Amino acid sequence: MILNFLKTKRGKDPFSITLINNYENAKLFFSKNRTNCFRIYDKEITQIPLTIDYYDGFFVINHYWKQSSTESDIEKLVKKVNSSILESFEVSQENIFHKYRKINYDKELFLNSEGISSFLTVYESGIKFEVNLKDYLDTGIFLDHSPVREIAMKLGKEKRVLNLFSYTSSFSLYVLKGGAKFCRSVDISNTYVDWSRRNHILNNIDKSLYEIRRDDCLNHLKFSNKKGEKFDFIIMDPPTFSRSKKIKKSVFNVQKDHVEMINNGTNLLSEGGVILFSNNLTTFKMDKQILKEYIVKDISEKTIPYGFKNKKIHKTFLIRKK
Ligand SMILES: C[S@@+](CC[C@H](N)C(=O)[O-])C[C@H]1O[C@@H](n2cnc3c(N)ncnc32)[C@H](O)[C@@H]1O
Repeated sequence: MILNFLKTKRGKDPFSITLINNYENAKLFFSKNRTNCFRIYDKEITQIPLTIDYYDGFFVINHYWKQSSTESDIEKLVKKVNSSILESFEVSQENIFHKYRKINYDKELFLNSEGISSFLTVYESGIKFEVNLKDYLDTGIFLDHSPVREIAMKLGKEKRVLNLFSYTSSFSLYVLKGGAKFCRSVDISNTYVDWSRRNHILNNIDKSLYEIRRDDCLNHLKFSNKKGEKFDFIIMDPPTFSRSKKIKKSVFNVQKDHVEMINNGTNLLSEGGVILFSNNLTTFKMDKQILKEYIVKDISEKTIPYGFKNKKIHKTFLIRKK
């Protein structure tokens, strides 16, 4: 498999030079790993407080609004970023997508994005992922979790795996490509369940090896316990916060709900089984009861990808029964 990368031009201002240098270094680092989606800018320049991710020739810019930011501040920044990208890479305006987030996690706002083509297939570790750069706040693959997926791939080898909050099934694809015996993916959203199916088909995964279910994960854990099911490896990568009419409690809050989730999850573990628990709440604290009752290993430090400057972007734990 040969990955094609964009050619760069000579940048003039410090931001363009940073972009080109970061991109060239990331390209060297990732192409060995058959990956063409990665972060190329992470708020390095104080006056340009945004992130830029590269997806096979396309750029996704995440803006983080402060209460004090004005529309004219944002507009200026958009113009600056567009002109630097166009000056530094052989691309056109249609290859650039802007996404706007508010800083408080429960008030995330996706206003609009530009660019025309939205669906694309990208590679991470040689695995194919359908991404949609335009229609949602998130693209279909969370780049910050790339090292966590590598860890999951190793832990899932020859195992029966349950992937909760599966979104587009990136963890499932990794464990299945890594030799898992079976993987069930569970998510509440029909959109993501369909997307997951497409991702499994895209990677030619044998149908007998996987199952994709639409369900509330908290309910699913109870249902699975009632049925006496067992899994060797359970992946839990929930959102920080979510609101949905489809979930029984109507609101999911990782800080409050992780205790019930982990307790029910450990009941499903076979002898020697392990839970990989990860989330993006920067203030997350593992509950004392969980720390006391199980063997909990915080592996967050090992899970921050190349190009990410925020070392607290997620917290990741391995949890085993004593
Ligand atoms: C942060 S994403 C998960 C990312 C995913 N683990 C990955 O690495 O690609 C959150 C996902 O949880 C799903 N979700 C939120 N609340 C849920 C619930 N109570 N039960 C099942 N899925 C839920 C959302 O639909 C979304 O796909």
